[in-house]
Amino acid sequence: MSQFIKENNYLDHAATTYVRQEVLEKMLPFFAEKFGNPSSLYDIAQESKNAIEESREICAEILNCSPSEIYFTSGGTESNNMAIKGLLSSNSVDYRVISSSIEHHAVIHPIEQLSKRGVEVVFIDVNKNGLINLESFRKKINKSTKLVSFMYVNNEIGVVQDLRLISKIVKEFQQENDCDIIFHSDAVQAPGKLSLDTEILGVDLMSISGHKIYAPKGIGLLYIRNGIEVHPLISGGGQENQMRSGTENVPYIVAFAEALRLSDIERHENERKMKKLSDLLISTLNDRITDYKLNSSRDNCVPGIINLSFPGYEGESIIIGLNFKGIYVSSGSACSSASLEPSHVLSSMGLTKEESLSSIRVSLGKYNNENHIYDFVNALEAVLSQLASYKK
Ligand SMILES: Cc1ncc(COP(=O)(O)O)c(C=O)c1O
Repeated sequence: MSQFIKENNYLDHAATTYVRQEVLEKMLPFFAEKFGNPSSLYDIAQESKNAIEESREICAEILNCSPSEIYFTSGGTESNNMAIKGLLSSNSVDYRVISSSIEHHAVIHPIEQLSKRGVEVVFIDVNKNGLINLESFRKKINKSTKLVSFMYVNNEIGVVQDLRLISKIVKEFQQENDCDIIFHSDAVQAPGKLSLDTEILGVDLMSISGHKIYAPKGIGLLYIRNGIEVHPLISGGGQENQMRSGTENVPYIVAFAEALRLSDIERHENERKMKKLSDLLISTLNDRITDYKLNSSRDNCVPGIINLSFPGYEGESIIIGLNFKGIYVSSGSACSSASLEPSHVLSSMGLTKEESLSSIRVSLGKYNNENHIYDFVNALEAVLSQLASYKK
């Protein structure tokens, strides 16, 4: 564990995680010793190639798919772009894409780009808990629908969508209407928390990223079900079975597979721990800070992502106040945290602009413990009372 993690209270694991020791150890030899280009023919190159293929097999096992369906990318953003834009070149623009109003920008923005090129785009609304309105989805799915993209776990509030049910709706529609619809899911926040079994989930495309599960930033994968035609975004030397050219980042691929493997082994234990800590967080908040709103519904969200609003306070000020005390949390998603616009996720759930701007997100991780929760609530109480004193 790094010195920083030992000495600070890092509660922003949905933004990113540090690289865990086992993962670091696994990747290190591939920087200076086993550095061969996997496309070359001599033995150190073959070592790199074998490491990539072993990593692909590890990932495939966890996703319950064939290794030939795993494509390594630079992370969630690239995988989402590949899934969404990669379909455009294989189809005319005369089709519909359906997604939800609470997707990450790495899904919303590529879809908006398709919309500018003439594709019809429909964003389905969510209820007050962040669950996609499936009745509205059923009404919007039609024969010209080519792509449905719904995220698995939301990064701001942790709400989990029922992918099995959604894929059932898609499949039934396809069968009744004899059409082809591709179901993609941005599952970047799901590893280590939920099953990634692509057969059970019924997804055709699925995006995953390494830096949410203690692997480095800049590595991830796109699962592409065999038979689905996705056009590459990057062409060149033809790596990743022509789908993603460029010399492979072997150390990161090895690290990612190890992190995914460990996160899958530890999934149930992790879930129990997150539940215990989030229950403690909420009960301590209830005892100590009464005027707050819990935006992550306990029944529909993963326990480790907890979104809270503090009416009358600015989320940004709370975050900075906590930062001074060595406590790290965020507002909404890290990508939008530099702006003072209300989160599109919280707005879609019906929160007012004020409620949204007063929100913070706490996301728990592997090394958090009960002391971190108590320290967080103590610090929060102090920050809120300090901010209240400025108002007087
Ligand atoms: C749900 C979701 N999708 C996509 C991304 C982007 O992934 P990456 O940072 O690996 O590009 C993130 C990162 O925060 C995310 O939370």
